[in-house]
Amino acid sequence: MTRSKADTPAMKAIILAGGSGRRLYPVTLTVNKHLLPIYNKPMIYYPLSLVMLMGIREVLLVVNPQDLQDFQRLFGDGSHLGMRIAYTVQPEPRGLAEGLVLGAEFLAGAPVCYVLGDNVFFGHALPDLLREARRTVEQEGGALVFGYPVKDPQRFGVVEFDETGRVRSLEEKPEHPKSNFAVVGLYLYDAEAPAIARTVRPSARNELEITEVNRAYLRRGRLRVRLLGRGFAWFDAGTHDSFLEAGEFVATIERRTGTMIGCIEEIAFLNGWIGREDLRRLARPLENTEYGRYLLELAER
Ligand code: G1P
Repeated sequence: MTRSKADTPAMKAIILAGGSGRRLYPVTLTVNKHLLPIYNKPMIYYPLSLVMLMGIREVLLVVNPQDLQDFQRLFGDGSHLGMRIAYTVQPEPRGLAEGLVLGAEFLAGAPVCYVLGDNVFFGHALPDLLREARRTVEQEGGALVFGYPVKDPQRFGVVEFDETGRVRSLEEKPEHPKSNFAVVGLYLYDAEAPAIARTVRPSARNELEITEVNRAYLRRGRLRVRLLGRGFAWFDAGTHDSFLEAGEFVATIERRTGTMIGCIEEIAFLNGWIGREDLRRLARPLENTEYGRYLLELAER
């Protein structure tokens, strides 16, 4: 069934910023992973900026109880960015699919862009690609996920295709991966997602896996997979090495081009969600940093 855009509510976003961060211990024993710096800004800025590039203004952050205040201090209610940012607490790190259940009330029947807070993306054509994906799910329903070729697929959700390019299987961290395409941590779902997530049972590693949600869409014939090719960079900054790699990547691009990746104030300004004077006000407390000077220059341009 194709629904007209008029009767589908606009897509909202949920960003997952909870979890134990065990793979980054001892660093994350006392600090939430998503607040750590990827080069010059908190990790959480990167997934938030993606959602903003998709034109989504209503965002729910799923956080651990002990970190709620930190995130609130960072983003408040989002109004300084011309957004609405809300928070919900995940009492225990029970797995990625649970965020959809916790976010059901926030979504209130809207489709969702579901993003893992430790995923960093870069690519010239990315905003267009994401906006097109958003339109597809808003208008046609179902789910849409992205595959990215990696050397170590056993670390991720893995998607396998048949000869005709149709998805044959999805597996979470398979010992013997059937392809080298990882499913990245950005998923677009229609309004069915929370109900599907409620049916997911804990996996062998005792987590409610997001891959099970994707498999449910696959079984219904409602899963689309788009491949991110050579022109894209994707990092999941959840291990010491990938964390460092993501930071080095961002630093290299920013130093070379003088343009920032994941600068949320810039995107809010370019989206027309805040004005020049708002941007200046946001920049002032950061004046002595390159970040602040970047914003001020932007406001003068
Ligand atoms: C999670 C998902 C996995 C996905 C990955 C992307 O893995 O379970 O399917 O490929 O994120 O970052 P986790 O970070 O929980 O190991």
